[in-house]
Amino acid sequence: MAVLTFVTQKGGSGKTTLALNLAVAALEAGRRSLILDLDPQASAESWYQDRDREEPRLVRLAAAELGRAVELAARQGFDVVFVDTPGRDEPAVAAAIRAADFCLVPCRPTPPDMKAQPATVATIRRLNKPFAFVLVQTPPRGFRIREAQQGLAVLGPVVPVTVVARHAFQDAQGLGLGVVEYEPDGKAAAEIRQLWQWIARRLERIAHDAQTHLA
Ligand SMILES: Nc1ncnc2c1ncn2[C@@H]1O[C@H](COP(=O)(O)OP(=O)(O)OP(=O)(O)O)[C@@H](O)[C@H]1O
Ligand SMILES: [Mg+2]
Repeated sequence: MAVLTFVTQKGGSGKTTLALNLAVAALEAGRRSLILDLDPQASAESWYQDRDREEPRLVRLAAAELGRAVELAARQGFDVVFVDTPGRDEPAVAAAIRAADFCLVPCRPTPPDMKAQPATVATIRRLNKPFAFVLVQTPPRGFRIREAQQGLAVLGPVVPVTVVARHAFQDAQGLGLGVVEYEPDGKAAAEIRQLWQWIARRLERIAHDAQTHLA
């Protein structure tokens, strides 16, 4: 089982949107997915309440319960746990990074988002976890994406898939759906599937390296 934590100190960048949509995409790809919502704002839980389908399962919990929840998820046969965190630096964030096999750091291509990243990266590095940035809420194309990619690459790896700002994300969320369910043939769905495939490959490599290390 793999634990994927969504983290950045910059509020409103897209942690919850990515966690929900990637969990649904992972489910579509045949993975048993569990979302753990550590944010007291509970926006992920509110999405789950609007949802007709039970999967991916979602549980809201406090940081102190995270370790046990991850253990339980492994015993119950989940394949991937998606941990959504609050948009502030607090103990819950450190706990979620500590529990992670991999951290995904969403970042909009804007100066305030870019400025917030060194602090987030410092926390992830201190806890010695692999991570990558993913550019989100971007324009469809243009120099801003390229500049942001170059700026972030100085701090750490950048996922080669960009998530464009699209109404489908907001409309799907309002209906308790992921974009791959809401508009299966849409551009948002294609980007999220591509992002999931990149992450799945990355998680496989991490699992493989861990096994080789143990052998
Ligand atoms: N790719 C996107 N296209 C359009 N809207 C988006 C996209 N990603 C996120 N949003 C919207 O931006 C807003 C903030 O996103 P989200 O709630 O995922 O951020 P967050 O990082 O979880 O915020 P917080 O720090 O408050 O928990 C939401 O209204 C969401 O619908
Ligand atoms: Mg959120």
